[in-house]
Amino acid sequence: MKKEANSQQPAVIGLDVGTSRIVAARRTDGQDIVEAQLNAFVALPHSKLTENSLTRENVPHSIIDGQIVVFGNESARMADLLGREIRRPMTRGVLNSQEPAGLAQIEEIIGAVIGEGPAPGTKVCFSVPAPPAGSEENITYHEATIRQILNELGYRDVRSINEGVAVIYSELEESNYTGIGVSCGGGLCNIAMAYMSVPVLTFSVPKGGDFIDTSAAGVTGELVNRVRLVKEEGFHFNGHFADKVQQAISVYYDDMIQSIVQGLKDAFANTRGVPKFGRAVPLVLSGGGVLPKGFRERFETVLNAATLPVAVSEVRLAANPLEATARGALVSALSE
Ligand SMILES: Nc1ncnc2c1ncn2[C@@H]1O[C@H](COP(=O)(O)OP(=O)(O)O)[C@@H](O)[C@H]1O
Ligand SMILES: [Mg+2]
Repeated sequence: MKKEANSQQPAVIGLDVGTSRIVAARRTDGQDIVEAQLNAFVALPHSKLTENSLTRENVPHSIIDGQIVVFGNESARMADLLGREIRRPMTRGVLNSQEPAGLAQIEEIIGAVIGEGPAPGTKVCFSVPAPPAGSEENITYHEATIRQILNELGYRDVRSINEGVAVIYSELEESNYTGIGVSCGGGLCNIAMAYMSVPVLTFSVPKGGDFIDTSAAGVTGELVNRVRLVKEEGFHFNGHFADKVQQAISVYYDDMIQSIVQGLKDAFANTRGVPKFGRAVPLVLSGGGVLPKGFRERFETVLNAATLPVAVSEVRLAANPLEATARGALVSALSE
């Protein structure tokens, strides 16, 4: 049940294809609209009643092999009600080759967010992660496959942008797109530095929210999903943790932050010709992972304890951490 692209006017779309969520920022007639769906699905036993209810509530779903597959935001609630895990088309920032149904499902989810059959002239720019620092992996397969999916949905003018660079485009106009962008997602953290909009370095760290959830679940014996809920609903930095789960979350959050800062140090050391900026540059934090209270301060403390060859003028949160990548991809699409 993909929706029709909802305008006859050509639109410009920035699309954040994230492990956890697919977010689109769309500009039509000078107006920006942001929409998001969980990048997840769950299969339910088929009944005509369920199917009709889902249709009436506009919940994205399809009938596949005699089952109802529910996509996006509603899949989490459904899975929870049924005591099942949601399934995900992506893992660690890229398409999950272990999830055979994933390709058809991510097409449905992207279709549920941006629609299919857009007006001619519509442009899309989608985000891609950087390969993890020091790994031999590449993102060619992931990038080409997302492009194919967009083509199948009827999008012809399709480009991609590195996720960290997209964050810089959405948040650092004031510094003329000079600075460092960090996106802390579910699968990965993506980091980029740009000088007057030109990417100087990009890399990712294979530790994100999923790493925190799984590791904290491992040491406390809690379910991963339970840890995620505690993290999203009650976790904050500082203070003494009476609660074992909170304490474990803080340990793995610190590990993630340390890895990002160490990644920056290594990237500078390995990059030839890091420009002599001549001035301090801002660093902006985005993604769902930066939302807990006190994250910015903790990040700043770790960063200040490290010596980087580039001075950082300020560490700040994106205006809307969950929308920064999509909005930056939109800036990029509009600039072409
Ligand atoms: N309020 C919150 N507090 C802490 N973590 C959160 C919060 N909301 C979302 N997250 C975490 O952010 C991650 C998803 O971030 P997002 O930027 O949407 O990811 P992705 O780029 O992977 O799609 C998940 O690990 C999720 O648990
Ligand atoms: Mg992301």
